[in-house]
Amino acid sequence: MNERDSEAVAAQLMAKGYGVAPDESQADVILLNTCSVRDSAEQKALNKMDSLAGQVRKHRPDTLLGFMGCMAQSRGEELIDQLPDVDLVLGTQKIHRAGQYLDDLFAGRRERVVDTDAEKGSEAAIREHLPETKNNSAGITAFVSIMQGCNQFCTFCIVPYTRGRERCRNIEDIVAECRGLVDDGVKEVTLLGQIVNSYGKREIESKDGKSAFVQLIEAVHEINGLERIRFTSPHPKGYGKDLVESYGRLPKLVENAHLPVQSGSDRMLKLMHRGYTRDRFVELVNQLRAVRSGIGVGTDIIVGFPGETEEDFEHTLSLCKQVKFDNAFLFKYSKRRDTPAASMPDQLPEELIEERHAHLMEVTDEIRQRKLQDYIGRRMEVLVEGYSRRNTERLEGRTRCNKIVIFEGGDRFIGQVLEVEIESATKTTLYGNPAIINLN
Ligand code: 5AD
Ligand code: SF4
Repeated sequence: MNERDSEAVAAQLMAKGYGVAPDESQADVILLNTCSVRDSAEQKALNKMDSLAGQVRKHRPDTLLGFMGCMAQSRGEELIDQLPDVDLVLGTQKIHRAGQYLDDLFAGRRERVVDTDAEKGSEAAIREHLPETKNNSAGITAFVSIMQGCNQFCTFCIVPYTRGRERCRNIEDIVAECRGLVDDGVKEVTLLGQIVNSYGKREIESKDGKSAFVQLIEAVHEINGLERIRFTSPHPKGYGKDLVESYGRLPKLVENAHLPVQSGSDRMLKLMHRGYTRDRFVELVNQLRAVRSGIGVGTDIIVGFPGETEEDFEHTLSLCKQVKFDNAFLFKYSKRRDTPAASMPDQLPEELIEERHAHLMEVTDEIRQRKLQDYIGRRMEVLVEGYSRRNTERLEGRTRCNKIVIFEGGDRFIGQVLEVEIESATKTTLYGNPAIINLN
């Protein structure tokens, strides 16, 4: 989502005549887009700005420096107190105002800008795409922001405070944006939101038993030339019967579900305010696997939430072994200010969190690797996104179930959907050979 916001700001500035600097030492404006979900991300952004400020002061004193994103929102003015070289602090509901504020700063109309106010309608402002690159997959895949904010208030999470309450764009605007992207050659769109399957829950009425989110997917599904639809990040609670069923009848909706479980312990899930139990979560995974065999299931897990006992952690280990996630992002609990979990008793020592994190990583890595091995010898449908980032002689694409596949081939395959026979697998990636049949 941050990448998408950065792209929208870059597109906004390019429309005003700015260009992309070859590197930061030659830039007239440097904006750091920041994440606050974990403390490590905030520290990284602060250190980066500190070093940029040092360089700018020495070599290019006229360069404007700014923060945008969640940390800009939550710290506001405080960032300028800490780093006085910063000229601009742009809150999460203000990124569409970047160009206007930079004009003011360059013209000397204002010396500094800190704007972290809420702004009605800002959820509809993230719509511009970079003309050539759409994102790093060279215009083949694109991200489309459909809503902002979150009302779930998980007790560990800072997002509802930095992104505000849920606000959604309307279906027509989103479809128009997707159609424009497809006209420009995009084959796959990923619908984005902090709690994406809560889309339109309050604003858009259910129709024929279909929630607003399913209505939106259906409308996007109608777009000719679009091959694939993904969405992220959903909440397990938002997978109603209608959404589960849509995997059985909407072929462009890919076989992939990211289901952040956070913990395998019911006691932890309750303290986290997640709104589901372990049994319900497992039932959901089984329902999805029944409706679409081969569906890839990924997750996020937090290790070391306050009060997590050895037994709670064992429940998380056993859940991973039971569900066998294709991919698991493991996070060490990070205390975030103003969140309820920050003042809960029994905050765990860092060493214990490290130890559990390493243990869980071993288990989930082994499961992932074993699952990747199962693809060897199979033919998978791959959307070719471009040349491999690691080996520019080879092509890279993704299966519908979100596995990266590397294979030999040239320009003419880029943007095509091919069948690739999988020949080998490393810890994270599949390698294969394209079959002769072109599925387009
Ligand atoms: N500490 C660690 N991980 C967190 N996440 C959210 N808040 C925290 C926190 N305070 C993780 C969750 C979420 C993912 C995007 O980040 O697992 O799903
Ligand atoms: Fe944060 Fe996601 Fe929970 Fe919302 S649903 S509070 S974004 S973890």
